[in-house]
Amino acid sequence: MSESPETLRFLSAGHARRIASQVGTPVYIYGEAPLEEAARAVLAFPNAFGLTARFAMKACPNGNILRFFTNLGLGLDCSSGYEVERALAAGIPAARITLTCQEAPANLPFLLKKGISFNASSPAQIEAFAAAKPRGELGLRINPGLGSGSTNRTNVGGPASSFGIWKDAVDGARQLAQRLALRVVRLHTHIGSGSDPAVWQRVAAMSLDFVDAFPEVTAFDLGGGFKVGRMSGEKTTDLQEVGLPVKEAFEAFARKTGRRLHLEIEPGTWLVANAGALLTTVQDLADTGAQGYRFLKLDAGMTEVLRPSLYGAQHPIVVIPQTHTDATETCVVVGHCCESGDVLTPAPGDSEGLAPRLLARARIGDLCVIEGAGAYCAAMSAKHYNSFPEAPEVFLRKNGRFEVIRKRQPAKELWRHERRVL
Ligand SMILES: Cc1ncc(COP(=O)(O)O)c(C=O)c1O
Repeated sequence: MSESPETLRFLSAGHARRIASQVGTPVYIYGEAPLEEAARAVLAFPNAFGLTARFAMKACPNGNILRFFTNLGLGLDCSSGYEVERALAAGIPAARITLTCQEAPANLPFLLKKGISFNASSPAQIEAFAAAKPRGELGLRINPGLGSGSTNRTNVGGPASSFGIWKDAVDGARQLAQRLALRVVRLHTHIGSGSDPAVWQRVAAMSLDFVDAFPEVTAFDLGGGFKVGRMSGEKTTDLQEVGLPVKEAFEAFARKTGRRLHLEIEPGTWLVANAGALLTTVQDLADTGAQGYRFLKLDAGMTEVLRPSLYGAQHPIVVIPQTHTDATETCVVVGHCCESGDVLTPAPGDSEGLAPRLLARARIGDLCVIEGAGAYCAAMSAKHYNSFPEAPEVFLRKNGRFEVIRKRQPAKELWRHERRVL
């Protein structure tokens, strides 16, 4: 455990108080300044012969965030047909959208006709694509045999992963595409979220070997997965450092083969993780005595930030006392669901363990910020558990003004689609 409490990142206590008083809590807050800084760094990723960078929208799919990134020059990576529909509804041009999915959507012909590009992740998807777009151009997602993620749940390469065409089946997939008169113009790998940068680089370099067998491939998409440090002391992947050897590998490949491959990347986490925070209120306290714990109960939890309960993920937690105090306290922070697994301070990588944190001493009514909540939080939660409605989202401008980009869900929407038959 750290010797001193974590501190706020892009928010100030003043912003937090203003947003809480006008919008209420819990509320997600995204900062324009850190989002823009991250987008510019991604667009400067080292490349030898051109770069297309896409935002993996699964990390944070609010249409305002999608428009913000695409206006800065990013494209979008979608992981389901519904994400494509959401992006199109947000006004993102189809030509800026690529779909790489586990489940090919039933309306794939319609989406392809709109002009999105597609990476097939299996022979069945190659066939679905051929039926939807005869003689079309597509990409193939390959499982290169090696993966890396912050946990086994986010590692999507290697034999324990169902994502993409297994390395030994790539030639069969190539022949299938050829028989179906398709043109394979892109290869794709994505080996996990929170990847070890060394493994990511190794996969990038060895993946180029697959290109030899595909004379029409002009682009290589190396996915996302760049590790982000959320807790103080954790390291965030330096994109220049991880990208330079890849650029050199593309250059060496061009010297050897005469083929100048266009580089594509599609980070989610790296673009948004530390640009988002969840603002909550301490709504209760509990103490289980000398052999137990001091618990701090928030008005949010796994219904807003599921990652700690799911992976034992660590998020910085910052109490904002109503009146200044230097007093600290070691607490277990829990969410509002009636479930002992709703814990925001699990042991690292062990969602069942408790890891009390040093925090500023909290009283009921104090604000409390869960930092590092921009990626896979509003997007991925135990939504509606205990019938808690969806929290609103706010965009905090560089000038300190803020706008609500998603309203708090009225509770009655939870049962809106139920049919009364009993
Ligand atoms: C195909 C693909 N690309 C990109 C990403 C984004 O990964 P990350 O958020 O770790 O950058 C994912 C995440 O699951 C993915 O499946």
